[in-house]
Amino acid sequence: VSVACIVVAAGRGERLGEGCPKAFVEIGGRPLVWHALRAASGAARVTHVVVVAPDGLEGDPALAGAVAVVRGGATRQHSVANGLAALPGDTEVVLVHDAARCLAPPELFDAVAAGVLSGHDAVIPGLPVVDTLKVVDAAGRVTATPDRAELRAVQTPQGFRRDVLERAHAAAVERGDTDAPDDAALVERIGLPVHVVAGHPDAFKVTRPQDLLLAESVLARRAA
Ligand code: C5P
Repeated sequence: VSVACIVVAAGRGERLGEGCPKAFVEIGGRPLVWHALRAASGAARVTHVVVVAPDGLEGDPALAGAVAVVRGGATRQHSVANGLAALPGDTEVVLVHDAARCLAPPELFDAVAAGVLSGHDAVIPGLPVVDTLKVVDAAGRVTATPDRAELRAVQTPQGFRRDVLERAHAAAVERGDTDAPDDAALVERIGLPVHVVAGHPDAFKVTRPQDLLLAESVLARRAA
């Protein structure tokens, strides 16, 4: 079975404040997207990797291992759609991964792919949440405290049967949705079940400056 991974790397990453697209910020002397591409390619079950890159960076040497590099869109959802359009024809399972989760290990890609190959339409990694989460209204007033035991902080790679993800994206376009929080949300909207497997602490998303320090220390631990 052909399992492709779309690595989305076309975001601007303004919260990081580094002055270049986030996926091209470096840790351990290499861009985040290089690490993400290496992890995806290192997964035993992944046969192809497609990268969605920011304008003008499609030819960057960090992307050399990809079967195709396509240009990003205005939102993450658009970027994923561009990646879907570039999948090799025989792809049956697709994983979608944020370049910003650059240290997600190959085993996580394999675990997610295995979940889809075992019959689930959609499989996502999730971790228990450590903070208590509140629902807050526009006036700053707490309206609810969801039971933490029922919540998961979800990560990528998220895995799907290719036809399911294509249908979910097409339905989003028909509804006029342009900025889905993640791909699983689009599958939920077409009424299909999404299965959660154990996430991995190294699959955190590099978002704020302190995340770069954490990423550097994870790399150092791996090298030791
Ligand atoms: O901004 P955020 O960290 O939520 O983005 C998640 C991932 O989606 C990142 O890897 C980013 O590069 C990618 N993205 C994209 N195209 C966009 C916005 C985000 O490929 N228009």
